Amino acid sequence: SDPRLVERATAAKAALGDRVFVLGHHYQRDEVIRFADVTGDSFKLAQQAAARPEAPYIVFCGVHFMAESADILTAAHQQVILPDLAAGCSMADMATFDQVEETWEALEDAGIAADVVPVTYMNSSADIKGFVGRHGGTVCTSSNARRALEWAFSRGSKVLFLPDQHLGRNTAVLEMGLSLGDCVVYNPHRPNGGLTRRELADAKMILWRGHCSVHGRFTKESVDDVRARVPGVNVLVHPECKHEVVTAADHIGSTEYIIKKLDAAPAGSSWAVGTELNLVRRLAAAHPDKNVMFLDKTVCYCSTMNRIDLPHLVRSLETLAAGEVVNRIQVDEETAHYARAALDQMLALP
Ligand code: 13P
Ligand code: SF4
Repeated sequence: SDPRLVERATAAKAALGDRVFVLGHHYQRDEVIRFADVTGDSFKLAQQAAARPEAPYIVFCGVHFMAESADILTAAHQQVILPDLAAGCSMADMATFDQVEETWEALEDAGIAADVVPVTYMNSSADIKGFVGRHGGTVCTSSNARRALEWAFSRGSKVLFLPDQHLGRNTAVLEMGLSLGDCVVYNPHRPNGGLTRRELADAKMILWRGHCSVHGRFTKESVDDVRARVPGVNVLVHPECKHEVVTAADHIGSTEYIIKKLDAAPAGSSWAVGTELNLVRRLAAAHPDKNVMFLDKTVCYCSTMNRIDLPHLVRSLETLAAGEVVNRIQVDEETAHYARAALDQMLALP
C-alpha cells in the first residue's frame, strides 16, 4: 500500500489518541487491519464495541450491519463511523423489514406464529433485529448459533431463521440432530413463502431464503478436487457454506474459530480453507510452516468488505482528527431499543 497513505493514517490515529477506537473484521484488507485496535469475528466485535466507553469515536472497519450493531451496543455519546457507506452485505439485503413483517402475518394466518421464535443472524439490518427483539427472539452469530437455537427451542417448537438458510440448516442438522426434512425454505417472493399450510405446520426450522454470495461459491466439487490434489488435506469451512460443502468438510466454524484452528495446527499440515480470501491469504502468510490454501480454484473476496480500503480509512481518521464526523451510522431510538433486546439476549447466552 501507498507509504504516504500509511503515514497519514498513522499520524491521524496518533493525533486522535484515545479518542478513537478502531475495530476490524477478519475479512478486512491487510492495509486496513493493521490499524485496528481490535480484530475479531462478528461476535467478538459486538462484544468489544462497548469496551472503550471513554472513546467518543468508533471507526468500524467491516460492513454496515456490524456498524449498526456497534451503534446499538455503545453509549449514547459515542459515534460509530463506517469509512465507506457502500460497504453493505448482500445477504443482509436479502431480508427487508416489510418482507419479514409480511412473513409473520402469513405465519399468523397459518395459525403457527405463537409457536415460532424468530432468530436472526447478526448479518441483518437493525430493523430486522428490532423485529426479532419485539417478538421475543434473539440474534446469533456463526460462533453461537447452536446455543441460540437451543435457547429458541426451549421457548417454542419452531424457529424462523433469518436470513442465512445455510447457517440455519447446518446448525440445526449437524449440531442439533434435526433432519433435513424438519427444515423448509421460506421464499419471501412467493405467497406464503411458496409453502403449503401442511409444510409450515410440520416444519421445525423455517429458513429464510438468503445466502452469502461469497461462501455460496464453494461446492462439493471444490472439496473433492482439493482432496484429490492434496493428500491428507484438512478442509476447514465457514458455516455460511452450503450444506453439501459443510458435510464434506473436516472442520466448521466462524472466522475466529478458523484462525484458532490454524494456530493450533502442526507444522507441515495442509489446510484448504473455505472462507473469504483476505483472511485466507493472511493465514497463509502467518503460517509459512503449514500449507494453507484457498478451497476453490477461483479467488473470491467479499466485494463489500473490500470497499473499506486505506484511502477511506485515512479520510475517516483525518476528518475526525479535524473535528468533523462523516459517515456516521446511527440507528433510530425505537429500532435500537428492540434490537438491543435481541442483541443482549445473544450476549447473555450461556
Ligand atoms: P464471522 O465473523 O462471524 O465468522 O462471520 C463471517 C461473515 O460473513 C461476516 O460477514
Ligand atoms: Fe455478507 Fe458474505 Fe460479505 Fe459476510 S462475506 S459481509 S455474509 S456478503
